[in-house]
Amino acid sequence: MIEKIFAANVLIVDDQIVNVKLLERILKNSGFKNVFSTTDSRQAVSLYQEHNIDVLLLDIRMPHLDGFQVIEELQSITENDYLPILVLTAELTSETRGKALTIGAKDFLVKPFDQSEVLQRTQNIIEVRLLHKQISQHNKVLEAEVKRRTQELEGSQLEIIQRLGLAAEYKDNETGYHVLRMSSYSKALAKAIGLSDEDAEMILCATSMHDIGKVGIPDRILLKPGKLDKDEWGIMQSHVTIGAKLLSGGESPLLKMAKKVVLTHHEKWDGSGYPNGLIGEDIPLEGRICAISDVFDALTSTRPYKDAWPVEKAMAVIKDESGKHFEPRLVELFEQILPEVLAIQVEYLD
Ligand SMILES: [Fe+2]
Ligand SMILES: [Fe+2]
Repeated sequence: MIEKIFAANVLIVDDQIVNVKLLERILKNSGFKNVFSTTDSRQAVSLYQEHNIDVLLLDIRMPHLDGFQVIEELQSITENDYLPILVLTAELTSETRGKALTIGAKDFLVKPFDQSEVLQRTQNIIEVRLLHKQISQHNKVLEAEVKRRTQELEGSQLEIIQRLGLAAEYKDNETGYHVLRMSSYSKALAKAIGLSDEDAEMILCATSMHDIGKVGIPDRILLKPGKLDKDEWGIMQSHVTIGAKLLSGGESPLLKMAKKVVLTHHEKWDGSGYPNGLIGEDIPLEGRICAISDVFDALTSTRPYKDAWPVEKAMAVIKDESGKHFEPRLVELFEQILPEVLAIQVEYLD
């Protein structure tokens, strides 16, 4: 510790050159290596910052800026930092002392200076200063660790959610990457419409679960090669309500959003969708976003009953459905972000 104390950066601010010289001599003679000084109090703050000062020996009565003003300025730039200030004063009235302590001084040195007192009090403040630095350094490390762990946790949550989504799609004969692609398109679309990164990330997670209700649809219907009859189609459509039931009662904002997506991803802008025939903006935004991403990916991927359509053909359908199946504004935006969409498609090729 003692080595660290002598290596500390000391700043002396006093308008009397005699005082400055005296303090400098006392400190340097006893081993302090980095002693800075000025007789012009207007330089105090910039010197303090420039040399990363560990203790400031500060006179109170000075022309231009007095010691109180210097302390106030330092307060305003350092906020939560510990201010290592040792006030130099000839008159130790309780008023001066009280005022200095109130605004942030830590201790006093009374003129004329006593050598051993100068050293002792200076060292005391440096010791506290160094400990303070150590603690805040430690806190920074801890904060970084907490942040890293939180990100890790969020990452694994997303993985679990996407895998749940995959499970449902898998059963449906769809390929595993459908969920990864369409949820990434949804995120891109969410950002294009101006949602925050955080909300867009939540949409990515929520849309991953859009067909989770398919786990409740019998295989004979889900996997039927031919066309579904009316009853079968009704059962098939119930995947949205089954999914919503699976997610209902969820407390987290994510599960609440996911439930909205699940329930509304087959609604259509013109009101001809299911299960509730919602119209326009009555359909939650998340559901409207999911609808486009889901259909676009279905059209552009290979399914047992169809080849993958070229992007131009799929986009023609999407545009044709603007104002019918899809919200016009979202169709426009989807076209705008098409390069990004295609990059995602390449990233998650089947
Ligand atoms: Fe669906
Ligand atoms: Fe889907």
